[in-house]
Amino acid sequence: MKILIATEKPFAPVAVKGIKEIAETAGLEVALLEKYTERAALLAAVADVDALIVRSDIIDAEVMDAAPKLRVIVRAGAGFDNIDLSAATAHNMVVMNTPGQNANAVAELVVGMLIYTIRNHYDGTSGTELKGKKLGLMAFGAVAQNVARIAHGLGMEVSSFSPLDSPQMITNAGVHVVDSREELFLNNDIVSLHIPSTPTTKRSIGYDLVKSMKQNAILVNTARKDVIDEEGLLRAMAERTDLRYVTDLKMDNHEEAVKQLGNRYFFTPKKMGAQTAEANINAGLAAAKQIVEFLRDGVNTYQVNK
Ligand code: 3PG
Repeated sequence: MKILIATEKPFAPVAVKGIKEIAETAGLEVALLEKYTERAALLAAVADVDALIVRSDIIDAEVMDAAPKLRVIVRAGAGFDNIDLSAATAHNMVVMNTPGQNANAVAELVVGMLIYTIRNHYDGTSGTELKGKKLGLMAFGAVAQNVARIAHGLGMEVSSFSPLDSPQMITNAGVHVVDSREELFLNNDIVSLHIPSTPTTKRSIGYDLVKSMKQNAILVNTARKDVIDEEGLLRAMAERTDLRYVTDLKMDNHEEAVKQLGNRYFFTPKKMGAQTAEANINAGLAAAKQIVEFLRDGVNTYQVNK
């Protein structure tokens, strides 16, 4: 049987080596398709594979149609909005993610980008500090929990609005529970987004929430680009010239944002949150183990299309 690692944005080589070791020890062959630029390359590469490891690569019905033997797709990471789950179910394919495995890397990027921002991009002028600032976390999954842990170490006051999590779990992490998004945006110096992209969250952060933010507030987005209503954000930031937007995901309206916001807009050229050797190893090896256990024993613990 054969596993394909198809990563438009490659893992660190050490992670690929680890995946190969796990797969080959279990008697599985491994093929690698990295940095592909043509969809045709992906369609050709899946033709004879039983299992697939991907990152943010788009896996839709067309890819599944091109993969007659494919039984299991593992998204080496948290968010699985890049995979068409109903198409996978219709094709009798199991989809899994590897929750939490790259969370610390994303959390460290949040803090790194924040320090860079409040120190005015290290331009020699006097900036500010995170100590004593209020941080609001939108949702409280694995990334947000890591951000909270680091933020506490920096002396920040952390709160979260996360209706899907138990208030007890949030409180146990030393984080204040907030009852609404409105309250979270209104009362924090920094709001960091950790919501997945779903039909409900898409374009859910826009004009009203951004416009309501505290003086000199910063909005951080390491979640998904499409949870932002970009027109609303730009309109709010035109009226509130004290606000800053920091994102791991270059905006669709990138040129306009650069022109309008200048250095109030910080972006990574390519999604960087999970781009550490450690995160690649954690998520990649977890993906390989999950595939081996699924193909061997039918284990489907992290299946997301149940
Ligand atoms: C995730 O959902 O795990 C993160 O957004 C990381 O995505 P990536 O593997 O494409 O970097």
